[in-house]
Amino acid sequence: MKIISLTQYLVEQQRQHGNIPGQLRLLIEVVARACKRISISVNKGALGGVLGSAQTENVQGEVQKKLDIISNEVLIEANEWGGHLAALASEEMDTIHLVPNRYPQGEYLLMYDPLDGSSNIDVNVSIGTIFSVLKKADHEGVSERDFLQPGAQQVAAGYCVYGPQTMLVLTVGDGVAMFTLDREQGSWTLTQENVRIPEDTREFAINMSNMRHWDAPVKRYIDECLAGAEGPRGKDFNMRWIASMVADVHRILTRGGVFMYPWDKREPQKPGKLRLMYEANPMGFLVEQAGGAATNGRERILDIVPSKLHERVSVILGSKNEVERVTRYHLEATEEASK
Ligand code: AHG
Ligand code: MN
Ligand code: MN
Repeated sequence: MKIISLTQYLVEQQRQHGNIPGQLRLLIEVVARACKRISISVNKGALGGVLGSAQTENVQGEVQKKLDIISNEVLIEANEWGGHLAALASEEMDTIHLVPNRYPQGEYLLMYDPLDGSSNIDVNVSIGTIFSVLKKADHEGVSERDFLQPGAQQVAAGYCVYGPQTMLVLTVGDGVAMFTLDREQGSWTLTQENVRIPEDTREFAINMSNMRHWDAPVKRYIDECLAGAEGPRGKDFNMRWIASMVADVHRILTRGGVFMYPWDKREPQKPGKLRLMYEANPMGFLVEQAGGAATNGRERILDIVPSKLHERVSVILGSKNEVERVTRYHLEATEEASK
Protein backbone atom coordinates (compact mmCIF):
# COMPACT_ATOMS: atom_id res chain seq x y z
CA MET A 1 0.00 0.00 0.00
CA LYS A 2 1.33 3.43 -0.92
CA ILE A 3 1.29 5.46 2.29
CA ILE A 4 -0.27 8.91 1.99
CA SER A 5 -0.05 11.11 5.06
CA LEU A 6 -2.60 13.74 6.03
CA THR A 7 -0.11 16.46 5.04
CA GLN A 8 0.45 14.95 1.60
CA TYR A 9 -3.30 14.59 1.10
CA LEU A 10 -3.88 18.26 1.99
CA VAL A 11 -1.03 19.49 -0.22
CA GLU A 12 -2.28 17.44 -3.17
CA GLN A 13 -5.87 18.63 -2.67
CA GLN A 14 -4.64 22.21 -2.75
CA ARG A 15 -2.65 21.52 -5.92
CA GLN A 16 -5.61 19.92 -7.68
CA HIS A 17 -8.54 22.02 -6.46
CA GLY A 18 -7.01 25.09 -4.79
CA ASN A 19 -9.38 24.61 -1.82
CA ILE A 20 -6.86 24.40 1.05
CA PRO A 21 -4.84 27.61 1.40
CA GLY A 22 -1.93 27.62 3.87
CA GLN A 23 -3.88 28.83 6.92
CA LEU A 24 -6.58 26.22 6.43
CA ARG A 25 -4.02 23.46 6.04
CA LEU A 26 -2.33 24.56 9.26
CA LEU A 27 -5.70 24.62 11.01
CA ILE A 28 -6.58 21.07 9.92
CA GLU A 29 -3.14 19.76 10.85
CA VAL A 30 -3.29 21.45 14.25
CA VAL A 31 -6.75 20.02 14.98
CA ALA A 32 -5.53 16.58 13.88
CA ARG A 33 -2.51 16.89 16.18
CA ALA A 34 -4.75 17.93 19.08
CA CYS A 35 -6.95 14.88 18.43
CA LYS A 36 -3.85 12.72 18.66
CA ARG A 37 -3.23 14.10 22.15
CA ILE A 38 -6.86 13.59 23.13
CA SER A 39 -6.64 10.03 21.83
CA ILE A 40 -3.63 9.38 24.07
CA SER A 41 -5.55 10.64 27.13
CA VAL A 42 -8.61 8.60 26.18
CA ASN A 43 -6.49 5.46 25.81
CA LYS A 44 -4.85 5.93 29.23
CA GLY A 45 -8.23 5.90 30.92
CA ALA A 46 -7.98 5.23 34.66
CA LEU A 47 -4.16 5.05 34.38
CA GLY A 48 -4.13 8.72 33.37
CA GLY A 49 -6.73 9.72 35.95
CA VAL A 50 -8.96 11.08 33.19
CA LEU A 51 -12.19 9.20 33.91
CA GLY A 52 -15.15 10.48 35.86
CA SER A 53 -16.94 13.73 36.41
CA ALA A 54 -15.37 17.17 36.85
CA GLN A 55 -18.30 18.22 39.09
CA THR A 56 -18.88 21.34 36.96
CA GLU A 57 -21.66 22.29 34.55
CA ASN A 58 -21.41 23.72 31.03
CA VAL A 59 -23.62 26.41 29.49
CA GLN A 60 -26.09 23.71 28.36
CA GLY A 61 -26.62 22.66 31.98
CA GLU A 62 -24.84 19.34 31.50
CA VAL A 63 -22.42 17.98 34.10
CA GLN A 64 -18.93 18.02 32.57
CA LYS A 65 -16.68 14.98 32.53
CA LYS A 66 -12.95 15.41 33.14
CA LEU A 67 -12.29 14.50 29.51
CA ASP A 68 -14.74 17.16 28.25
CA ILE A 69 -12.56 19.77 29.95
CA ILE A 70 -9.20 18.21 29.08
CA SER A 71 -10.15 17.90 25.39
CA ASN A 72 -11.44 21.45 25.27
CA GLU A 73 -8.16 22.73 26.71
CA VAL A 74 -6.01 20.62 24.39
CA LEU A 75 -7.85 22.08 21.38
CA ILE A 76 -7.51 25.68 22.60
CA GLU A 77 -3.83 25.31 23.42
CA ALA A 78 -3.09 23.68 20.07
CA ASN A 79 -4.95 26.29 18.03
CA GLU A 80 -4.47 29.72 19.54
CA TRP A 81 -0.84 30.43 18.64
CA GLY A 82 -0.81 29.42 14.96
CA GLY A 83 -2.07 32.64 13.37
CA HIS A 84 -4.78 30.79 11.45
CA LEU A 85 -7.73 31.57 13.71
CA ALA A 86 -9.79 34.68 14.33
CA ALA A 87 -11.62 32.93 17.20
CA LEU A 88 -12.99 29.60 18.30
CA ALA A 89 -16.12 28.32 20.00
CA SER A 90 -16.82 25.12 21.87
CA GLU A 91 -19.67 23.16 23.40
CA GLU A 92 -17.85 23.53 26.72
CA MET A 93 -17.54 27.35 26.72
CA ASP A 94 -20.37 29.86 27.12
CA THR A 95 -18.99 32.42 24.71
CA ILE A 96 -16.46 32.58 21.90
CA HIS A 97 -12.76 32.35 22.73
CA LEU A 98 -10.62 35.07 21.16
CA VAL A 99 -7.05 34.53 20.08
CA PRO A 100 -4.86 36.23 22.75
CA ASN A 101 -3.33 39.55 21.66
CA ARG A 102 0.20 38.17 21.75
CA TYR A 103 -0.59 36.00 18.71
CA PRO A 104 -1.51 37.10 15.19
CA GLN A 105 -5.14 36.72 14.11
CA GLY A 106 -6.09 34.61 11.12
CA GLU A 107 -9.08 34.30 8.82
CA TYR A 108 -10.81 31.22 10.17
CA LEU A 109 -13.40 30.44 12.81
CA LEU A 110 -13.25 27.03 14.46
CA MET A 111 -16.13 25.37 16.31
CA TYR A 112 -16.01 22.07 18.08
CA ASP A 113 -17.55 19.50 20.34
CA PRO A 114 -14.30 18.54 22.09
CA LEU A 115 -15.62 15.25 23.44
CA ASP A 116 -18.73 13.77 21.92
CA GLY A 117 -20.45 10.86 23.62
CA SER A 118 -19.49 11.85 27.17
CA SER A 119 -21.80 9.23 28.67
CA ASN A 120 -19.62 6.55 27.04
CA ILE A 121 -16.24 7.68 28.45
CA ASP A 122 -16.38 5.73 31.68
CA VAL A 123 -17.79 2.59 30.06
CA ASN A 124 -15.02 2.27 27.44
CA VAL A 125 -17.23 2.77 24.38
CA SER A 126 -16.25 4.84 21.30
CA ILE A 127 -16.26 8.61 21.70
CA GLY A 128 -15.04 11.43 19.47
CA THR A 129 -14.24 15.06 18.66
CA ILE A 130 -16.30 16.98 16.07
CA PHE A 131 -15.16 20.20 14.35
CA SER A 132 -16.43 22.74 11.86
CA VAL A 133 -14.54 25.54 10.10
CA LEU A 134 -15.94 28.79 8.73
CA LYS A 135 -14.25 31.77 7.17
CA LYS A 136 -14.65 35.09 8.94
CA ALA A 137 -16.16 37.91 6.90
CA ASP A 138 -13.54 40.47 5.97
CA HIS A 139 -13.88 43.23 8.59
CA GLU A 140 -12.11 44.40 11.75
CA GLY A 141 -12.60 42.46 14.97
CA VAL A 142 -14.59 39.36 15.68
CA SER A 143 -17.79 38.65 17.59
CA GLU A 144 -20.28 35.84 18.08
CA ARG A 145 -22.22 37.21 15.11
CA ASP A 146 -19.36 36.17 12.77
CA PHE A 147 -20.04 32.54 13.70
CA LEU A 148 -23.74 32.66 12.85
CA GLN A 149 -23.38 31.46 9.25
CA PRO A 150 -25.39 28.60 7.77
CA GLY A 151 -23.60 25.24 7.56
CA ALA A 152 -23.45 25.50 3.77
CA GLN A 153 -20.66 28.06 4.28
CA GLN A 154 -18.35 25.59 6.06
CA VAL A 155 -14.95 25.34 4.38
CA ALA A 156 -14.00 22.17 6.22
CA ALA A 157 -15.49 19.81 8.77
CA GLY A 158 -14.70 16.50 10.32
CA TYR A 159 -14.45 14.34 13.36
CA CYS A 160 -12.04 12.06 15.10
CA VAL A 161 -13.39 8.80 16.51
CA TYR A 162 -11.58 7.20 19.45
CA GLY A 163 -12.62 3.60 18.93
CA PRO A 164 -10.85 0.30 18.35
CA GLN A 165 -8.96 2.40 15.82
CA THR A 166 -8.49 6.15 16.10
CA MET A 167 -9.65 7.69 12.84
CA LEU A 168 -9.92 11.17 11.43
CA VAL A 169 -12.69 11.78 8.91
CA LEU A 170 -12.48 14.97 6.90
CA THR A 171 -14.18 16.98 4.19
CA VAL A 172 -12.96 20.17 2.58
CA GLY A 173 -15.96 20.21 0.25
CA ASP A 174 -14.61 17.71 -2.23
CA GLY A 175 -15.76 14.35 -0.90
CA VAL A 176 -14.90 12.60 2.34
CA ALA A 177 -11.55 11.05 3.25
CA MET A 178 -10.69 8.84 6.22
CA PHE A 179 -7.30 8.64 7.97
CA THR A 180 -6.22 6.07 10.52
CA LEU A 181 -3.79 6.95 13.30
CA ASP A 182 -0.62 4.90 12.93
CA ARG A 183 0.53 4.79 16.53
CA GLU A 184 4.05 3.54 15.77
CA GLN A 185 4.68 6.38 13.32
CA GLY A 186 2.53 8.86 15.22
CA SER A 187 0.99 9.91 11.91
CA TRP A 188 -2.38 10.05 10.18
CA THR A 189 -2.46 7.79 7.14
CA LEU A 190 -5.09 7.94 4.40
CA THR A 191 -7.08 4.70 4.52
CA GLN A 192 -10.18 5.58 2.49
CA GLU A 193 -11.10 8.18 -0.11
CA ASN A 194 -14.36 9.01 -1.88
CA VAL A 195 -16.48 7.65 0.96
CA ARG A 196 -20.04 6.94 -0.29
CA ILE A 197 -23.15 6.27 1.82
CA PRO A 198 -25.48 3.73 0.16
CA GLU A 199 -28.77 5.47 -0.74
CA ASP A 200 -30.86 2.69 0.75
CA THR A 201 -30.51 0.99 4.09
CA ARG A 202 -32.09 -1.50 6.45
CA GLU A 203 -30.64 0.04 9.60
CA PHE A 204 -31.83 2.91 11.77
CA ALA A 205 -30.37 4.62 14.84
CA ILE A 206 -32.60 6.37 17.35
CA ASN A 207 -32.95 6.32 21.14
CA MET A 208 -36.06 4.12 21.35
CA SER A 209 -36.62 4.92 25.03
CA ASN A 210 -37.99 8.29 23.91
CA MET A 211 -40.65 6.73 21.68
CA ARG A 212 -43.58 7.92 23.77
CA HIS A 213 -42.35 11.52 23.43
CA TRP A 214 -41.89 11.53 19.63
CA ASP A 215 -43.81 13.50 17.08
CA ALA A 216 -46.23 11.57 14.79
CA PRO A 217 -44.01 11.52 11.64
CA VAL A 218 -41.09 9.96 13.55
CA LYS A 219 -43.43 7.41 15.14
CA ARG A 220 -44.86 6.59 11.71
CA TYR A 221 -41.42 6.02 10.19
CA ILE A 222 -40.13 3.81 13.02
CA ASP A 223 -43.41 1.85 13.24
CA GLU A 224 -43.07 1.03 9.55
CA CYS A 225 -39.46 -0.11 10.04
CA LEU A 226 -40.44 -2.25 13.01
CA ALA A 227 -43.26 -3.89 11.01
CA GLY A 228 -40.48 -5.49 8.94
CA ALA A 229 -41.01 -7.72 5.90
CA GLU A 230 -44.78 -7.98 6.54
CA GLY A 231 -45.19 -4.21 6.87
CA PRO A 232 -45.44 -1.41 4.28
CA ARG A 233 -41.64 -1.33 3.78
CA GLY A 234 -41.53 -5.00 2.84
CA LYS A 235 -38.15 -5.57 4.54
CA ASP A 236 -36.73 -6.17 8.00
CA PHE A 237 -34.77 -3.39 9.69
CA ASN A 238 -31.94 -3.61 12.18
CA MET A 239 -31.29 -1.07 14.93
CA ARG A 240 -28.12 0.44 16.45
CA TRP A 241 -27.76 3.22 19.04
CA ILE A 242 -24.30 3.91 20.41
CA ALA A 243 -25.17 7.23 22.10
CA SER A 244 -22.02 8.79 20.64
CA MET A 245 -23.06 10.71 17.54
CA VAL A 246 -19.53 10.35 16.18
CA ALA A 247 -19.65 6.55 16.39
CA ASP A 248 -23.18 6.36 14.95
CA VAL A 249 -22.26 8.67 12.05
CA HIS A 250 -19.04 6.75 11.46
CA ARG A 251 -21.04 3.55 11.02
CA ILE A 252 -23.41 5.32 8.62
CA LEU A 253 -20.52 6.70 6.53
CA THR A 254 -19.08 3.20 6.43
CA ARG A 255 -22.13 1.06 5.66
CA GLY A 256 -25.19 3.31 5.46
CA GLY A 257 -28.13 3.81 7.79
CA VAL A 258 -30.27 6.61 9.13
CA PHE A 259 -29.54 8.51 12.37
CA MET A 260 -32.24 10.47 14.14
CA TYR A 261 -32.27 12.67 17.19
CA PRO A 262 -35.61 14.37 16.58
CA TRP A 263 -37.46 17.04 18.51
CA ASP A 264 -39.56 15.42 21.23
CA LYS A 265 -42.08 16.37 23.89
CA ARG A 266 -39.73 16.11 26.86
CA GLU A 267 -38.52 19.69 26.42
CA PRO A 268 -40.88 21.01 23.75
CA GLN A 269 -39.39 24.51 23.78
CA LYS A 270 -36.05 23.13 22.52
CA PRO A 271 -35.85 22.31 18.79
CA GLY A 272 -33.84 19.16 19.62
CA LYS A 273 -31.02 17.86 21.80
CA LEU A 274 -28.06 18.11 19.46
CA ARG A 275 -26.31 21.35 18.71
CA LEU A 276 -26.44 22.91 15.25
CA MET A 277 -23.07 24.61 14.99
CA TYR A 278 -20.66 21.92 16.19
CA GLU A 279 -22.63 18.68 15.87
CA ALA A 280 -25.33 18.83 13.17
CA ASN A 281 -23.56 21.16 10.70
CA PRO A 282 -20.21 19.35 10.49
CA MET A 283 -21.93 15.94 10.37
CA GLY A 284 -24.44 17.24 7.81
CA PHE A 285 -21.58 18.51 5.63
CA LEU A 286 -19.74 15.15 5.81
CA VAL A 287 -22.88 13.14 5.12
CA GLU A 288 -23.84 15.27 2.10
CA GLN A 289 -20.30 15.07 0.78
CA ALA A 290 -20.63 11.29 0.92
CA GLY A 291 -23.89 11.33 -1.06
CA GLY A 292 -26.26 11.22 1.92
CA ALA A 293 -28.72 13.82 3.23
CA ALA A 294 -29.30 15.73 6.48
CA THR A 295 -32.47 17.59 7.51
CA ASN A 296 -34.25 18.76 10.64
CA GLY A 297 -37.37 17.00 9.35
CA ARG A 298 -38.43 19.96 7.28
CA GLU A 299 -35.40 21.68 5.86
CA ARG A 300 -31.82 20.95 4.97
CA ILE A 301 -29.61 21.31 8.06
CA LEU A 302 -26.95 23.22 6.10
CA ASP A 303 -29.50 25.89 5.08
CA ILE A 304 -30.49 26.81 8.64
CA VAL A 305 -29.38 30.33 9.57
CA PRO A 306 -28.29 30.10 13.22
CA SER A 307 -29.43 32.69 15.71
CA LYS A 308 -27.13 31.69 18.57
CA LEU A 309 -23.92 29.78 19.19
CA HIS A 310 -25.39 26.92 21.21
CA GLU A 311 -28.56 26.58 19.14
CA ARG A 312 -30.12 23.14 19.16
CA VAL A 313 -31.68 21.32 16.25
CA SER A 314 -33.60 18.20 15.36
CA VAL A 315 -31.37 15.88 13.30
CA ILE A 316 -32.17 13.26 10.65
CA LEU A 317 -29.19 12.19 8.56
CA GLY A 318 -27.71 9.36 6.56
CA SER A 319 -28.84 7.26 3.58
CA LYS A 320 -30.50 9.62 1.12
CA ASN A 321 -33.73 7.77 0.38
CA GLU A 322 -34.52 7.18 4.05
CA VAL A 323 -33.81 10.78 5.07
CA GLU A 324 -36.02 11.95 2.22
CA ARG A 325 -38.77 9.60 3.40
CA VAL A 326 -38.67 10.83 7.02
CA THR A 327 -38.61 14.43 5.78
CA ARG A 328 -41.60 13.75 3.50
CA TYR A 329 -43.53 12.33 6.48
CA HIS A 330 -42.87 15.56 8.40
CA LEU A 331 -43.92 17.78 5.48
CA GLU A 332 -47.08 15.72 4.91
CA ALA A 333 -47.98 16.10 8.60
CA THR A 334 -47.52 19.88 8.39
CA GLU A 335 -49.66 20.04 5.27
CA GLU A 336 -52.36 17.89 6.87
CA ALA A 337 -52.39 20.12 9.97
CA SER A 338 -52.82 23.29 7.89
CA LYS A 339 -55.93 21.96 6.09
P1 AHG B 1 -22.16 15.18 24.11
O1 AHG B 1 -21.51 14.04 24.82
O2 AHG B 1 -21.21 16.00 23.30
O3 AHG B 1 -23.04 16.03 25.00
O4 AHG B 1 -23.13 14.59 22.97
C1 AHG B 1 -23.93 13.47 23.27
C2 AHG B 1 -24.99 13.37 22.22
C3 AHG B 1 -24.63 12.53 21.02
O5 AHG B 1 -23.32 12.17 20.91
C4 AHG B 1 -25.51 11.31 21.15
O6 AHG B 1 -26.01 10.97 19.89
C5 AHG B 1 -26.61 11.72 22.07
O7 AHG B 1 -26.13 12.79 22.83
C6 AHG B 1 -27.06 10.61 22.98
O8 AHG B 1 -28.15 11.04 23.72
P2 AHG B 1 -29.03 10.06 24.63
O9 AHG B 1 -28.19 9.75 25.83
O10 AHG B 1 -30.24 10.92 24.93
O11 AHG B 1 -29.38 8.85 23.81
MN1 MN C 1 -21.77 15.82 21.26
MN1 MN D 1 -19.43 17.01 23.95
